[in-house]
Amino acid sequence: MTAPGVVGVGAIFIDDIVQPDGQTFMERLGGGVVHALMGAAIWNERPGIVAITGYDLPDSIRTHLEKHLDTRGLCSIDQPQIRAWQIFEHDGTRRELYRAPNSAPFIAGAQPNDLPVDYRNCRAFYLLQGVDGIRAWRQAVDGIVLWEPLQQMMSSGHRAMIREVLKNEQIDIISPNLAEAQAVYGQLSAVELVEAMFTDGARMVALRMGEQGSLVANRNERYRIPAVPVHQVLDQTGAGNTYCGAFLLGIMQEKTLQEAGFMAAVAASFCLEQVGTINPEQVDPNERDKRYRELPRL
Ligand SMILES: Nc1ncnc2c1ncn2[C@@H]1O[C@H](COP(=O)(O)OP(=O)(O)O)[C@@H](O)[C@H]1O
Ligand SMILES: [Mg+2]
Repeated sequence: MTAPGVVGVGAIFIDDIVQPDGQTFMERLGGGVVHALMGAAIWNERPGIVAITGYDLPDSIRTHLEKHLDTRGLCSIDQPQIRAWQIFEHDGTRRELYRAPNSAPFIAGAQPNDLPVDYRNCRAFYLLQGVDGIRAWRQAVDGIVLWEPLQQMMSSGHRAMIREVLKNEQIDIISPNLAEAQAVYGQLSAVELVEAMFTDGARMVALRMGEQGSLVANRNERYRIPAVPVHQVLDQTGAGNTYCGAFLLGIMQEKTLQEAGFMAAVAASFCLEQVGTINPEQVDPNERDKRYRELPRL
């Protein structure tokens, strides 16, 4: 078996989603890493997943994962599969409540020693991690790294630690959302936040801003990437993770910064229109390509 190009690391979650109007969607496939990799998968890619699962992960979910991802890195542990309430407010904020006797191994996610040997030299890694996790993973792999910092560690008190990581580890791409970046760097504008991250050592930044789209930049270029207009936002869970997976794929494929941003915005739009992770079978390639073509080049 050949090794995948993009690899994502984390855990499988089963989400029970509560919308602000009280509507619920129960038992949906979730987990940041699954969202991210399905965002890459809609672009004809078969990413590899390295993730913790419970021993009782339903077969239907395993089969679905196998259809779209290289699953040799799934690690089943001696614990029931975690579920998580995803509770949304009208302003888009989300609270997550874990439903498992022992959530710790799922929250920690897969560790570097869970990485299949064949994956060590893969070209790109999606890493949703805190500071310790990103350090450990960066040292374990060679490829391009996209770091999506865990929301819980995004506060001004952690700025020095984040700076240490950006300066001393080779973090190719960092992607926080606007609220997270402001929690670290203060109430700055999007452009100022990106500048602050470059000052702290970042090489490439994808700042996600919900319906305002995103701002992608490296040290030489900066692009506003508009959000793709969607008919109806059915479920916002995982839009940011999905964006990151597709952006990383674009960068791995040596697309331009703007092209990678467009791939990311298009992937996120399909996530918003579906409940749970994107089912790539429900993404029409013609519609995907139309959304990409119609994005205004700002
Ligand atoms: N309400 C929305 N309307 C349109 N597009 C959205 C909306 N929310 C998110 N997006 C798209 O998804 C991308 C990532 O979502 P974002 O909300 O920025 O990340 P997160 O959900 O992690 O905070 C955005 O850059 C945008 O392209
Ligand atoms: Mg959002």
